Amino acid sequence: MKIAIGSDHRGFEAKERVKSLLTELGIEVIDHGARSRDSCDYPDMAILVAKDVAEDRAQRGVLICGTGLGMSITANKVPGVRAALCHDELTAQFSRRHNDANVLCLAGDLVGDALIRRMVQVWLQTDFEGGRHARRLSKISDFEKHQCNGRPSGGAASA
Ligand code: RB5
Repeated sequence: MKIAIGSDHRGFEAKERVKSLLTELGIEVIDHGARSRDSCDYPDMAILVAKDVAEDRAQRGVLICGTGLGMSITANKVPGVRAALCHDELTAQFSRRHNDANVLCLAGDLVGDALIRRMVQVWLQTDFEGGRHARRLSKISDFEKHQCNGRPSGGAASA
C-alpha cells in the first residue's frame, strides 16, 4: 500500500511522526510537505494528497493541519475522496467501518502524539463493512457524478 501524506506548518511535526510510523510499518509514503514550520496554506497539500488518492497513485491519504478542519474541507472537494476528520480511536475506526474513509484528517494542535499514532494504526487495520454502508456511499458517488442535477437517489432508509 502507498500512502500520500501532507500537512501545513501547524501539522508539520505530527506529519513527520506519522511518516516515521508508516515507514516503520513498511508502507511506502508520498510526502507532499510541508517541509518546515514556515507558514504555508493547507489547501496546497490537501489537493495534492486528495488527487493522489482519487487518481490511485496512493491507496490512502493522511492530512494534518492545526484543527484538521481546513484539510478535511478541502480534500472532500475532490470527487472520490472520503476524508474523515477524526479525534479519537473510535471515530478513526468508524470512519473505516462505515464510511470507507480513504483520507484521514488529524488535528496537529489538539491531539497528542501517542493518540495520533494509535489512530493511524487502527485506521489502517480496520476494514470497510460494506452492506448498507456501501449503499450509502453509492449515494455520495452518484451525487458526485450528477452534481448539477443533485437529486439524491431513491430508496428507503434503514438504521
Ligand atoms: C493555520 O493557521 C490553521 O488555520 C490551519 O492549520 C488549520 O487549523 C485550518 O483549518
